Amino acid sequence: MGYYLAVSRRSVTSTTSLSGKVKMNAIRYRDKKLFYIDQRFLPLKEIWRECHHINSGYTAIKQLQVRGAPLIGVFAAYCICISIDSFSREKNQFFSDLFEAIDYLENARPTAVNLVWALKRIKQAALLKKDMPVAHIKKSICAEAKAIHKEDVLLCRRIAEHGVTLVEKGDRILTHCNTGFLATSGDGTALAIIYEAHKRQKEITVFADETRPLLQGSRLTAWELLKKRIPSFLITDSMAAPLMRNKKIDKVFVGADRIAANGDVANKIGTYGLAVLAYHHHIPFYVAAPSSTFDLSIKNGNNIPIEHRDMDEVRKVLGKVSIAPPDIPACNPAFDITPYRLITAIVSDRGILYPPFKKNIRELITDNQNPMVNQV
Ligand code: MRU
Repeated sequence: MGYYLAVSRRSVTSTTSLSGKVKMNAIRYRDKKLFYIDQRFLPLKEIWRECHHINSGYTAIKQLQVRGAPLIGVFAAYCICISIDSFSREKNQFFSDLFEAIDYLENARPTAVNLVWALKRIKQAALLKKDMPVAHIKKSICAEAKAIHKEDVLLCRRIAEHGVTLVEKGDRILTHCNTGFLATSGDGTALAIIYEAHKRQKEITVFADETRPLLQGSRLTAWELLKKRIPSFLITDSMAAPLMRNKKIDKVFVGADRIAANGDVANKIGTYGLAVLAYHHHIPFYVAAPSSTFDLSIKNGNNIPIEHRDMDEVRKVLGKVSIAPPDIPACNPAFDITPYRLITAIVSDRGILYPPFKKNIRELITDNQNPMVNQV
């Protein structure tokens, strides 16, 4: 996790909606300019950067400057928009530049399917207009990126509305990693449900896992929860077990980076352990994710690619202070697989999915190429 010169510093963008509620955003696109908050420095510094090209976009995703499954998809789509004027004006070469850029960005991180999903939509939008002039194709690509962004906001809202029905007054909810407005274009997935429950005065308390090794829980989720003024406790990952045993947790809500056709879920390392604990202690374990996170081409979790990251993320705190002998080999899988049997329900924008997951996913997530297609 290297340091960079700050482009600009200010608070996380907040805009006021028609209802007067403050909305937070982690990326902003305006007039072909793409800005994002560099999440490596949160909560200590709120540094905004401008992404100028595919290469810096790739680095931003790879280094988790921008992160969270839905957000990296939206961000990658916009990366294409801001770079498109540097592609050839000759049509064949334009398409080959475009495909090369898409292939490159797709490889920034392997686990979250939203990245591939969003870029596939960009590719399809371009191919649909392949007989038109290049200028026209460019417009369609940018319109598609904006549509992906807008839809993501809506998908978060729908997840919150479905998921909140699972929350009872006074619930003590455990969550892992960061699934809020820093991980999506809207209020989030699992955290959006928590925000909605708080808004509806359900008097919830949140327990946020710190989420070793990159501390998305303590750096990002704790920061979001404070901004939203939600009663919360930060805990280390190993505290989940005794809390559950001592009946201090009523429900677990987590996000997902990819959901296979049978309901197996890839999410931040540590999720599987939590699911086993929840199962053992008879605590409902809920996964919240938009339809763009389902990958029906993958039969089960064994086939989901797991990202393995630099050993220094484990041996050092945030890539800086050593907390281990420098030469000790370390394991650093960034994600794990939670088998569907341990999951109580999956909250999607299209409704709440219960077992049998394979059948219910097949029925509900029929077309996730364009999530709005089969929405009421
Ligand atoms: O490595 P990260 O920080 O991108 O991992 C994020 C997660 O694992 C989230 O739980 C997941 O993307 C769901 S985000 C709504």
